[in-house]
Amino acid sequence: MSTIDFDNLSFAYHKTNTILYTEFKNGKWSEIESRTDDYISISAFAGSLHYGIQCFEGLKAFRGKDGKVRIFRPDENAKRLRKSAEYLGIEAPSEEMFIQMCKRIVKENIDFLPPYGNNASMYIRPILFGSNPQLGVKSSTECVFMMLCSPVGAYTGGALEAIDVVIARDYDRAAPNGSGAYKVGGNYACSLLSLNKAVKLGYKAVLYLDPTSRKFIDEYNSSNFFGIKGNSYITPLSDSILPSITNKSLEVAARELGMTVERRPVPVEELGSFEEVGECGTAVVITPVHKIVDKPSLESDQETVYTYGNGLCGEKSLALYKYITSIQYGEAPDKFGWTIEVEL
Ligand SMILES: Cc1ncc(COP(=O)(O)O)c(C=O)c1O
Repeated sequence: MSTIDFDNLSFAYHKTNTILYTEFKNGKWSEIESRTDDYISISAFAGSLHYGIQCFEGLKAFRGKDGKVRIFRPDENAKRLRKSAEYLGIEAPSEEMFIQMCKRIVKENIDFLPPYGNNASMYIRPILFGSNPQLGVKSSTECVFMMLCSPVGAYTGGALEAIDVVIARDYDRAAPNGSGAYKVGGNYACSLLSLNKAVKLGYKAVLYLDPTSRKFIDEYNSSNFFGIKGNSYITPLSDSILPSITNKSLEVAARELGMTVERRPVPVEELGSFEEVGECGTAVVITPVHKIVDKPSLESDQETVYTYGNGLCGEKSLALYKYITSIQYGEAPDKFGWTIEVEL
């Protein structure tokens, strides 16, 4: 039984009942094992440890108002994992296997799924990595696929609490024509130095510019960017950002709420004309941004500051947030068939 305090969850690791484990070897996946120990044994020569041959996903399961358990758009995560695996040149699980494993991990850890009513949920973390011993730099021929989970609350400590972020013009998250659009661990490694420096300066996230011209907004270290101007939801078009499933869902939500959607390059100067700005991603759907500080370098005292609202979530961002979360929590009809129910 879980002894977790579901009312005070952040985005952190909790030991659950099981993890799911399977290996791709000799052209096929092994039988999926439920393991109670989340320590695994792999070769010290595994390509993932040396060359970052690794990709992952993040999605959530929710306990609904009606008691039902729903997973939000796992088919999209399965497709994105396949794209990441193709980028790395490794095998990926089929969409069917991915979704089966999502359902199974939730079912086996159901006592860790937070109850309805406190904005908490079960975070599901699929991870795929090259596992055969190798010395040369090449795609792994064998890999491990695991499905992990952990109960989570709001990422930043409080859902819809506005944050301050910084543009670090002396760092890029991704290279031009590089891996920015794939969910590979290397992208996160590339963001850590700038993120650590930004956190020390009191910022919650880094907002990166496009690495080619540094004239347009790309995305944050772990979420996509959106801005609201008049009745428009505006989000960057860039080939170096992760195609966020939340952002894709928010675009639909915006249209449903009578807004227009613009996915296009967003020049940095346009930050001065948005009424609301936010981050979006699986972790909390939307985190409103209060302040964006643009610095020539993180060490510089020179800065241009853009401020939005009064520290609370803007009206349109809140409506978008509610549109998505009410489907996730079974409070509104799932008219687009986004959720998959877990039979308990
Ligand atoms: C770099 C990055 N961008 C965007 C997102 C948002 O993607 P999604 O909405 O699919 O969670 C994430 C993950 O949450 C991310 O790590």
